[in-house]
Amino acid sequence: MQFVTLNNGLKMPQLGFGVWQVEEEDAISVVKKALEVGYRSIDTAAIYGNERGVGEALKQSSVPRDELFITTKVWNTDQGYENTLKAFDESLEKLGLDYVDLYLVHWPTPEYDEYVETYKALEKLYHDGRVKAIGVCNFDQDHLQRLLDECEITPVLNQIECHPFLAQQELKHFGGKNDIYVEAWSPLMQGGEVLKNDDIQAIAKDHGKTPAQVIIRWHLQNETIVIPKSVTPSRIEENFDVFDFELNQKEMEKIDSLDRNERKGPIPSEMNHR
Ligand SMILES: NC(=O)c1ccc[n+]([C@@H]2O[C@H](COP(=O)([O-])OP(=O)(O)OC[C@H]3O[C@@H](n4cnc5c(N)ncnc54)[C@H](OP(=O)(O)O)[C@@H]3O)[C@@H](O)[C@H]2O)c1
Repeated sequence: MQFVTLNNGLKMPQLGFGVWQVEEEDAISVVKKALEVGYRSIDTAAIYGNERGVGEALKQSSVPRDELFITTKVWNTDQGYENTLKAFDESLEKLGLDYVDLYLVHWPTPEYDEYVETYKALEKLYHDGRVKAIGVCNFDQDHLQRLLDECEITPVLNQIECHPFLAQQELKHFGGKNDIYVEAWSPLMQGGEVLKNDDIQAIAKDHGKTPAQVIIRWHLQNETIVIPKSVTPSRIEENFDVFDFELNQKEMEKIDSLDRNERKGPIPSEMNHR
């Protein structure tokens, strides 16, 4: 496993396991499988409705707590200082943990203009030792800049949609300048068209690897944190088997050139759904 060191000194596995759209009843077996394969970082969220299942898998596994890296997120309807503190207590209870490694604001929902207060609640949780690190998801530069200007703690990362068709160069550059890692959600574009791309297929063939493995490798070599999701045991293994090959510069540049600003999810500045 490769680790990155976050801006507060905490080490985080660079490759983790996402559980969006994993049903609560499936989460136990799926997360247990991921832990058996070697994943140590699990990315859930209150809105995924599976924190209890994730927690049960952690409880049943023999992996020591200090080797795990558990992320969850405060949902849009729970934004605001007091609401966020309450939502955190609920997430922690469902997960059956006494701290989480990383707590994230799920979306800025800028129309409501509550993300600064929400983030200040995350700062309190950090000072109280109930979370090891804090960060955000789906923040544009101007949202991040407001946190840098109005809050005390720099987010450790910004979790954003990122894959070869949406390379996110500007946010990566801004993150690099400000010590904020980019963590890629939908890193495989939700298993879509990008896996069928001719260039990615050709690179995969040359390495005797799959398109998904090549894309995960591209994220890793770009110093992006990456959290592919799968409920399929063979894919859970496949997506972790990425540490025995390397893409060369030409291959990296070829994949970089596929960027076409194409999203699966909403445009963050326009996402105000509650
Ligand atoms: N912060 C946010 O707003 C946000 C938004 C979206 C996602 N996320 C996080 O990011 C994680 C990953 O994103 P995601 O779940 O949207 O998409 P993803 O990881 O890009 O893709 C998952 C999809 O790809 C399929 N797949 C996985 N591995 C594959 C492989 N090796 N070959 C072919 N298909 C494969 C999966 O199918 P099967 O499961 O059927 O195998 C699933 O349908 C989420 O689970 C969640 O933790 C965060």
